[in-house]
Amino acid sequence: MNSTLILYESKYGTTQKVAHILSLILGPSKLCNIEENVPDINIYKNVVIAFPLYEEKSGNNIIEFFKEHSYDFSKKRVCIVSVGLSKADGIKYGLRLKDIIKKDDIYYYFIKGQLEINKLDDEDKISLEVFCNKVKIPFINMGRFEYKNVINAGVKIKEYLDRPKNEAPIEVIKNEIERFIKENNTCSIATGYEDFLRSTPIEYKYFQGNIYIISEGGLKFVGILQNKNISVSIYENYTDMNSLNGLQISGEVELLDEHSSEYEKVIKLKRLEFGKFNKLPISINILKIKPSKFEFLSSKFEEMGYDVKQNLINA
Ligand SMILES: Cc1cc2nc3c(=O)[nH]c(=O)nc-3n(C[C@H](O)[C@H](O)[C@H](O)COP(=O)(O)O)c2cc1C
Repeated sequence: MNSTLILYESKYGTTQKVAHILSLILGPSKLCNIEENVPDINIYKNVVIAFPLYEEKSGNNIIEFFKEHSYDFSKKRVCIVSVGLSKADGIKYGLRLKDIIKKDDIYYYFIKGQLEINKLDDEDKISLEVFCNKVKIPFINMGRFEYKNVINAGVKIKEYLDRPKNEAPIEVIKNEIERFIKENNTCSIATGYEDFLRSTPIEYKYFQGNIYIISEGGLKFVGILQNKNISVSIYENYTDMNSLNGLQISGEVELLDEHSSEYEKVIKLKRLEFGKFNKLPISINILKIKPSKFEFLSSKFEEMGYDVKQNLINA
């Protein structure tokens, strides 16, 4: 299992909020405050370390922990997340932690934190006021916690952590994906715009790298007409952990012109007669989905000696 431990420290709660959001996006995961009982780090494939920036005290508890306990990070993916007001400080203290855990290849991410004067303890209030007077900046609330920034960070970090360590050759991934798409005929498409979201089970036809859907219409068009982005899932019923097959496809959707040759081609592909089709008392719409990314979780990859999850990006 590609599990992730999220270790954090936080003085006023911003980094704690960041770590909690990341733990949800990065699941399967375990969220752990460094001051609580830290689980056995060796059992996790990935470790995310999040700490707030406080000048020379940045990440002090985490640093103390790793000075006292040494781990072999050589086969793990590690991400260091710093939360504060200055990215330069994030880099500086991120590199300091890197030296302590003795790992070269680390993914770093800086997230804008926030500072609310009325929440600070007396010591922090005084040191901050002294600092603000010295550098001649107003002694006021600073920064802003942005939910969206943390979500974006989660997506980027997940991409990094999910990259297979044992990647299958591209031809193998392509063949397995094509085989699975052709073996099945029903998918679920997720479409949406603003507050409107809809997931629709529907039959599809795969042809020359694209997915075609014949539709009489319906509420899925609320999303499709306003947002070309689409997500498609094709999967088998769960039986056990040794026979998993689930494919997620991201791409763009387009409504085909009913007078186009491509529309006619799809009708023929479905072994339908174009002439008869034209005489139907209702209009038939054809959607073309152009995949941009495939994420395929398949036990077949594992049987071949690769990671169970493989990705394919269309150029
Ligand atoms: C006394 C004090 C010192 C700070 N020093 C830094 C700093 O050196 N660099 C920086 O980028 N942010 C600094 N900050 C901003 C904090 O990193 C920011 O408020 C962060 O969101 C705090 O996270 P927390 O709520 O998890 O403790 C400082 C804040 C305080 C109150």
